[in-house]
Amino acid sequence: MTTLKAVRGTRDLLPPETALWNHIEKTARQVFTRYNFGEIRTPIFEDTALFSRGVGEETDIVSKEMYTWEDRARAQSEKPQSLTLRPENTAGVVRAYIEHKLGETGQLQKLYYVGPQFRRERPQKGRYRQFSQIGAEVIGPPSAGSESPLRDAEILEMLATLLDELGITGWTLHLNSVGSSADRARYNEVLRAALIPLAPQMCVDCQRRAVTNPLRVLDCKVPEDQPIIETLPKIVDSLDEASKTHFAAVLAALDAASVPYTRNHRLVRGLDYYTRTTFEFTHGGLGAQNALLGGGRYDGLSEAIGGPKAPGIGFAMGEDRLVLTLQAQLDQNPAPPQIADAFIAPLGESLNPAALALARELRRQGLRIELGDGSFRLKKSFETADKLARRIVILGEDELESGILTVKTFASGMQTKVARAELAAYLSAPSND
Ligand code: HAM
Repeated sequence: MTTLKAVRGTRDLLPPETALWNHIEKTARQVFTRYNFGEIRTPIFEDTALFSRGVGEETDIVSKEMYTWEDRARAQSEKPQSLTLRPENTAGVVRAYIEHKLGETGQLQKLYYVGPQFRRERPQKGRYRQFSQIGAEVIGPPSAGSESPLRDAEILEMLATLLDELGITGWTLHLNSVGSSADRARYNEVLRAALIPLAPQMCVDCQRRAVTNPLRVLDCKVPEDQPIIETLPKIVDSLDEASKTHFAAVLAALDAASVPYTRNHRLVRGLDYYTRTTFEFTHGGLGAQNALLGGGRYDGLSEAIGGPKAPGIGFAMGEDRLVLTLQAQLDQNPAPPQIADAFIAPLGESLNPAALALARELRRQGLRIELGDGSFRLKKSFETADKLARRIVILGEDELESGILTVKTFASGMQTKVARAELAAYLSAPSND
């Protein structure tokens, strides 16, 4: 029989790596809380129309990468519904904002999320078909200040703080403005015209994009095309006055907060909902998939999916890529492995119940305990304990009766007797070896 394996593009995460995932999520939650965000959990599958209307029919995500299926109709009269595993979470958050009438509070909604997303992309390092995002969105009616450039700058400053607190060094913030949808449409035409004489010298993809979606030419990675792309008109020159002023205010606030950034005229992003500010944080250690996170403003998304005017801005971090980056840093400077505080070795199977009771007592006092088995010979218990724990606690008939336990500390080789009432304190003290 063939052995079953995890599906291509999906992975099992095992300890000790999962500790790093938990550390990242915990740090992110702490930072988001300091900025007064609350957590939102939306469903992992949604109506397909949410993504085709929200993210955009023409995008790679919607046109090629979604896991979509027809759900069985419940009654004969019903039509089967097209459902999709979420490829991203901004559209879902905005749907929830509309569905729960959160705009009626008149306040800005500041929501964060952590969870899996699904895209049928070609798997490679840092790119998976199931991956995890940590993201946040700030959305609300214009009267709540949702269009303010201060919100953009605050989000970017929060991201710089979070990456610093995670200990990720060497990131670069790339920043651009794609203007209003009218600015984008105008720029698309400017690009289309500029590409007419140039496209024949470019790769086949660019030749096609020059006609269907000129903006995507800016994403081209083919080395021979780069000098040509550098000569193309820049989107900043197609922005209207309001978008230019907005962008200048974002930059001024970032300068005041000393958040470093580089302007990147080619950062147009692959989702159709973006307006004005767009950004990515990249990291050199990641290889081809170098975006640690991406985001931007989406002032028209709510209306595009049938909601009220509700401008917003947000981002999503690729958690898999944060882990890869931190792992690479840790490989250069490894942390000591986490081991248990003690291994309890019952001397004989009849002492197993008493050993479980002792383990329960110690674990409830916050200690990390491995429980051996009385069927092990003492030598085997010692060998196992030496790999898993800092100390071994021997539990025989005499120890049980007298309440005085024998404890050996592996690092020092010291063996001593400890009263049961003092055992937890003894085992938690780091320096009594
Ligand atoms: P995105 O740029 O498509 O934006 O994804 C954000 C981040 O998710 C990427 O920078 C990357 O780190 C990670 N990511 C994307 N695809 C994969 C993959 N196949 N494997 C591993 N990691 C991946 C969005 O999703 C927007 N919803 C972000 C946003 C929020 N914009 C406004 N609000």
